[in-house]
Amino acid sequence: MLVSLSEILRDANLRHYAVGAFNCLSLENVMGAMEAAEALRSPIILQLAEVQFPESPMELMAPLYLEAARRASVPVCVHLDHGQSLETCVRAIRLGFTSVMFDGAALPFDENVAVTSQVARIARAAGVSVEVELGKVGDSGVDTADVFTDVDESVRFVRATGIDALAIAIGNLHGHYVHTPRLNIRRLIEIHEANRLPLVLHGGSGTSEEDFKACIHNGICKINVATAIQRGIMKRIGERLSQKPDEQYIPLKQVMIDASREVVEEHIRLFESDGKAN
Ligand code: 13P
Repeated sequence: MLVSLSEILRDANLRHYAVGAFNCLSLENVMGAMEAAEALRSPIILQLAEVQFPESPMELMAPLYLEAARRASVPVCVHLDHGQSLETCVRAIRLGFTSVMFDGAALPFDENVAVTSQVARIARAAGVSVEVELGKVGDSGVDTADVFTDVDESVRFVRATGIDALAIAIGNLHGHYVHTPRLNIRRLIEIHEANRLPLVLHGGSGTSEEDFKACIHNGICKINVATAIQRGIMKRIGERLSQKPDEQYIPLKQVMIDASREVVEEHIRLFESDGKAN
């Protein structure tokens, strides 16, 4: 059942769980993710980031995501992750995505408000939701000064743009953590008290169970996971090839589906979205 981000997050916000948003780069990822969501009766978000377009072009992936969503018996949102321009967001909306993220984090505040407002106006007319990130979620291995989301700035931004979900920076990073991070839950609580809209945690891979729980019980309704799926697949393929060096391609496809399902199931349970699909 294909739904928008606002629809899928409404129940998560009310019942204090998070919906996993999984970056799926292949058919095997999508099949495994959907098997996990169906088996655990969980809502799910399938997403693709603009930086992933070279390997997984949006125009090719969109029909796959959308058909998987329409066939599903659980709610599924099809989301553009880290859209880098108004043009990319509009392309995603025209393809049938039910949610877009405009990532204007590198822009000055006023310019970010201006472009986000344009994206929000177009998206709203199409029944599509909008997510934005404020503050800077760094990339692991890249030396960026951590800049947490500013509470007052977030209030001004949300009021000025009318977005549906806000991604925050509270010490989370994209990619594989060298050390398990400790998230700033106090800042999360302050942002949540000041803004009554669903909050999003990027960089889910490698977060501790304790931090996940603190997040979902304090306003985080969507958690992005990418690296953990890729690592899970690489691990299982490595194991299979070491046991069976002449393994064929078709059984390896099944290994990829199974590994994707395992990682997604593990996160669905951690996010407490299992059993929440009506
Ligand atoms: P990870 O690769 O750290 O799970 O981050 C995913 C993400 O936030 C995509 O936007």
